[in-house]
Amino acid sequence: ALLGPAGRPLAGRRALVTSGPTREPIDPVRYIANHSSGRQGHAIAAALARAGAEVTLVSGPVIQPDPPGVSVVHVGTALEMLAACEAALPADIAVCAAAVADWRPEAAPGSKIKKEDGGEPVLRLVENPDILRTLATRPDDRPALVVGFAAETGDILAYGERKLGRKGCDWILANDVSPETGVFGGGENSVVLLRRGAAPEPWPKLAKEEVAARLVERIVAAFAMGEP
Ligand code: CTP
Ligand code: CA
Repeated sequence: ALLGPAGRPLAGRRALVTSGPTREPIDPVRYIANHSSGRQGHAIAAALARAGAEVTLVSGPVIQPDPPGVSVVHVGTALEMLAACEAALPADIAVCAAAVADWRPEAAPGSKIKKEDGGEPVLRLVENPDILRTLATRPDDRPALVVGFAAETGDILAYGERKLGRKGCDWILANDVSPETGVFGGGENSVVLLRRGAAPEPWPKLAKEEVAARLVERIVAAFAMGEP
């Protein structure tokens, strides 16, 4: 019953996925970014498409190929990512796996900053919009199920639960991104599924493709039970 017609249980559902880092320009040749590879987000987009969903993947700059059967919108900055996500609405499901840069340089000059201009440049940063929170709190077209990640070091559970409260999303996959785990850029992920009003559910360390497959199974089950 969970599989539905032709094993495509999410047929007729629209999904939006964010993936990869964002790049925030310092000047025309330099930027601030992070180590996100996009592997997890891309795997989730691919798994949702395999389950029959109509998927838009909004991706920052990554080496990953575009997943088959997914419409991919390539963006650079967090502001571009937010605009592309809003343009992709309405959606039934949103999964925010991107490692959005939390801050961007307030202003980027139109020409390259030169050493010979003298002195060391001082960057003033301003906070980027929170895409997950924006999607989860849209008044008119909030996706029925909004899922985020919580990249943490230290007390993953406590930070993850706090993020679940703060973001207004339905589920959070909290993951340990301490350098020794190799999660950032690696092929595996170690996550705890946090849902409102349910006990935390630690998953074993799995390949990112398997984390994606499990997440999609949970999404299918939630829709089958009329949960979201
Ligand atoms: N996220 C987002 N837009 C941002 C920042 C984060 O959509 N500007 C999303 C991420 O895609 C992820 C979730 O929010 O699904 C949590 O990201 P994370 O970096 O762990 O949390 P932050 O709220 O940015 O807090 P901090 O980095 O300070 O821990
Ligand atoms: Ca962050």
